[in-house]
Amino acid sequence: MYSISDLKKIFEISGNKKIIFENMNLEIDNKKITIILGKSGCGKTTLLRMIAGLEDVTDGRIDFYNKNEERVKAKIGMVFQESRLMPWLTVKENIEIHGNKIDTDKYLEMISLEEFKDAYPSQLSGGMAQRVAIARALSYQPDTLLMDEPFSALDYFTREQLQREIIKVYKKTGTGIIFVTHNIDEALMLGHRIVVISEGKLYNYDIAKNFPRDIGDMELINLKKEILNKINN
Ligand SMILES: Nc1ncnc2c1ncn2[C@@H]1O[C@H](COP(=O)(O)OP(=O)(O)OP(=O)(O)O)[C@@H](O)[C@H]1O
Ligand SMILES: [Mg+2]
Repeated sequence: MYSISDLKKIFEISGNKKIIFENMNLEIDNKKITIILGKSGCGKTTLLRMIAGLEDVTDGRIDFYNKNEERVKAKIGMVFQESRLMPWLTVKENIEIHGNKIDTDKYLEMISLEEFKDAYPSQLSGGMAQRVAIARALSYQPDTLLMDEPFSALDYFTREQLQREIIKVYKKTGTGIIFVTHNIDEALMLGHRIVVISEGKLYNYDIAKNFPRDIGDMELINLKKEILNKINN
């Protein structure tokens, strides 16, 4: 579980202070898929980077508690909008980048790329490269997979396919996922909980529906309207 308490984040841009978050309190269940949803510039990437420890908090704290409820440093795997693979390494070598005691075949199978293990990134489509990036993050055996708009550069069909892959990965590994998106349909398809950031405030929406979900489901359509109202108010 992540416990975010009284978090404050201020950026200083050419002498001007800009408050991104103030008095932010949030708990994230690391056994679930949590979506961070909000308009461009609302602070989604900043929040993810603070959770990953890549960005300082101005005040307040972010704590991670493991399964035994001990406060520890979380092991983080990250996936970005671009795959960021090493072009000079094969798919297999990219996945093994964290060390050589990795069951690469298991991860290749998880992302359905067994046949491409000796291919180079330049020989892959965007969706395939993103799948390798997911496998690379998983091979580190992280406590949590942090994903920052990982599918937003992909076409509609590839995006849908990768959403299914993420659910498969979640079911197989049980890894906690914190997934940033500005796509509300994607949030509804993937999230156990959607955390909406709007004007620096947070709003939580829980979805109990099983996977795979149907975007035409009345309950999800109504929730979508509710969330859109919240974001646009
Ligand atoms: N290193 C930085 N220095 C100064 N300001 C920053 C820095 N990083 C982000 N910001 C500011 O913080 C705000 C939030 O940025 P952030 O990248 O977290 O937004 P976002 O919700 O991820 O947006 P997008 O959907 O476009 O990716 C923006 O106003 C941005 O200008
Ligand atoms: Mg961002």
